[in-house]
Amino acid sequence: MGELYVPVNIETIQAEVFPDVALYIRSGGKFILYKSHGHNFSKQDATRLIENNVDVLFVSPQDLEVITTFMENNADSILKDDRLNSQTKGKIIYQTSINFVGDLFEHPEKVSDFSRSRRLVENLLKYLSSDCNSLQSLESVISHNYYTFVHSLQVAALSVLLHSEAYLLSHDEMLDVGIGTLLHDFGKVFLSQEILNKDGKLSQAELSAYRNHPEQGYQYLKKHTRLSDISLGVVRHHHERNNGKGYPHGLTAMAISRSAQVAAICDVYCNLTIDRTCRKALSPSMAVHLMKQEMKDSFNERLLDVLDGIVCTDNPAQFL
Ligand SMILES: [Fe+2]
Repeated sequence: MGELYVPVNIETIQAEVFPDVALYIRSGGKFILYKSHGHNFSKQDATRLIENNVDVLFVSPQDLEVITTFMENNADSILKDDRLNSQTKGKIIYQTSINFVGDLFEHPEKVSDFSRSRRLVENLLKYLSSDCNSLQSLESVISHNYYTFVHSLQVAALSVLLHSEAYLLSHDEMLDVGIGTLLHDFGKVFLSQEILNKDGKLSQAELSAYRNHPEQGYQYLKKHTRLSDISLGVVRHHHERNNGKGYPHGLTAMAISRSAQVAAICDVYCNLTIDRTCRKALSPSMAVHLMKQEMKDSFNERLLDVLDGIVCTDNPAQFL
């Protein structure tokens, strides 16, 4: 069952900041043991593999939980480690986040562990404010690794930055925004793989099921977690549009919280700037241009200007 092995970027596998688990290499469609448990993975090993154009190793699904727990518990010291550059830290944040979001899609009930999502978003905030290249570093990692829900992390990172530029938020509010945005598509847990992976047009019934994912996510999270109203609003209204043409409720600007408006903008922007099966990614400026011209009534104009300022220039994040 080779396809169940999980890829881990080599730069995130560094002694001291990675737990001791068995690592596998993929060769000719097979997974071969590269390092067993109890053996050291040295800097030289990493360099040699990277020189040979191998940039990911694989871990068994059983070990994924060990890695996730280790990284989540150590992210604070990893982020402070001067030996690691911004790109590597971005990869670690990325890995931790996709483990987290991936885990939730397998086990939705784990979302009730509120301290876990809070800790993860705390780390994301620290990372984003650590230097001005953090967003680009994170994006360069993400653009090479598009998994179904990885996009949630990109939307969360951008939404935190957009909030910090557009509004004066307390640290707690910023956490709420980050958590809500990270979980904005949680309702997709309840959709069938058939709907999620369908290439062609969705039938009317499938479309209405799909369009209910914000409401389903909201209802579940409200019942099973301690998420704040800010976070829940993001989940419930991230597909609403200011002109009332969004879904599932067709609300207009006045009824959509500012954080849900920001999330909607970031969600669309991140979708436009990533390669999809049906079309190539747009550049940041082309995506913003398109949103300002063709989707102008859907979004708050001032927020689109703030987005323009963030993605089209090198702005350090100032929000901690
Ligand atoms: Fe969504």
